[in-house]
Amino acid sequence: MLFYFLRNFLKGSIKSCCNLNFISIFPKVLNILLYQKTVFLNVEKSLSLQIILKTKIMIQLHDKEFVPFISAQEIDFAIAKIAALVEDDFADETPIFIGVLNGAFMVVADFMRHYKSPCEVSFIKMASYEGTTSTNDVKQLIGLDQDLTGRTVVIIEDIVDTGNTLLALKELFKKQNVAHFKIATLFFKPEAYKQEVKIDYVGIRIPDKFIVGFGLDYDGLGRNLPEVYQLKD
Ligand code: IMP
Ligand code: MG
Repeated sequence: MLFYFLRNFLKGSIKSCCNLNFISIFPKVLNILLYQKTVFLNVEKSLSLQIILKTKIMIQLHDKEFVPFISAQEIDFAIAKIAALVEDDFADETPIFIGVLNGAFMVVADFMRHYKSPCEVSFIKMASYEGTTSTNDVKQLIGLDQDLTGRTVVIIEDIVDTGNTLLALKELFKKQNVAHFKIATLFFKPEAYKQEVKIDYVGIRIPDKFIVGFGLDYDGLGRNLPEVYQLKD
């Protein structure tokens, strides 16, 4: 199957091999080529063609290039780990998970699939990033619409960078009289973190470099990528 798929794919795109950089056009092939700097493809015996792709696969969003960084499988593993830890702590109550939009929508969806005990979900919308840089001004764009008195709240973040968003959230939830306030994040950049707020559940620690994919964007683009890419040097 794979052989025929690759053969047909290559027949169609052999003329424009340079386009292989733009893997968003070839999502199926992406999964196969990811993490391989050199890929040998025996296309067809009659053609005796062996193509060596020496280029590291990368994607372009707006004016910037990004290289593969974290696979969909690693992401799923990290989310399953967080869900199991939260479930260990709160399986005997009904916590409310609050996803921080826009970036956390994918994490929340997968987290909910892994979390098997009773729970509720809601969303809040915060924004602090402009392009690839964090601003200190965190805006609340959509607020909470329910009474959280006495509830266990678990904030679900896609990524914690400077921590400014977390600090703003902590201030916000102070006024809500919640019983427990916990924070879970899929990605954490320890080198960029500037706050004292404790992060209770961390999926993957990453260096202080801009990433896209799995909900994270660069000026609106890249959120739909199932894996994560890092800004190219
Ligand atoms: P913080 O307030 O600096 O911790 O940043 C929080 C928000 O900034 C995250 O929820 C993301 O939406 C965004 N952000 C931080 N780092 C990145 C990144 O590397 N790529 C894309 N968005 C990011
Ligand atoms: Mg976020």
